[in-house]
Amino acid sequence: MKIRELTIKDYSKIIDLWTVSGLEFKPKGRDSRKSIQGEMKKSSCIYLGAFEKEELIGTLIVTDDGRKGWLNRLAIHPDYRRKGIAKKLSRAGEKILFKKGIGIIALLIFDHNEKSQNLAKSLGYEEHRDIVYFTKRINPDI
Ligand SMILES: CC(C)(COP(=O)(O)OP(=O)(O)OC[C@H]1O[C@@H](n2cnc3c(N)ncnc32)[C@H](O)[C@@H]1OP(=O)(O)O)[C@@H](O)C(=O)NCCC(=O)NCCS
Repeated sequence: MKIRELTIKDYSKIIDLWTVSGLEFKPKGRDSRKSIQGEMKKSSCIYLGAFEKEELIGTLIVTDDGRKGWLNRLAIHPDYRRKGIAKKLSRAGEKILFKKGIGIIALLIFDHNEKSQNLAKSLGYEEHRDIVYFTKRINPDI
């Protein structure tokens, strides 16, 4: 398994992986080709991919807002789960953020997503049950 930065040439592989992984994503909004292409040009947003030979088997988006780092869109192909790949991708993302001087990394995980919550705990993340997530959207697809 190899980890490398993804480019827009990998877009269709990314979408196929997110679909087969059952990840909730926004193909008409921030996960459209145009939007992802724009994000990939920013130094604050790095798309990592895990590959087995030429097959994309894992993704992780690593972002920072200048104050805090975020790990997003972590998805592993169902055939490759429970092999530690999510852990390896997350560690690779953390390394990028720590190198940038970011000292805090945050994850947003649905309450029903027990696997991801276990993963976060196994990586040493602290759970905050006292925080409620608010958003404002310019349209529902974003
Ligand atoms: C969640 C997900 C990324 C885990 O990927 P993975 O490569 O299988 O995870 P790892 O093998 O690195 O597992 C690391 C730890 O996560 C937890 N974990 C992973 N899968 C689990 C499962 N099915 N049940 C319970 N805990 C699980 C365990 O603590 C595990 O450590 P262990 O194997 O030593 O017990 C993967 O199941 C997935 O892609 N799910 C669908 C998309 C998704 O929900 N993404 C996260 C959005 S926030």
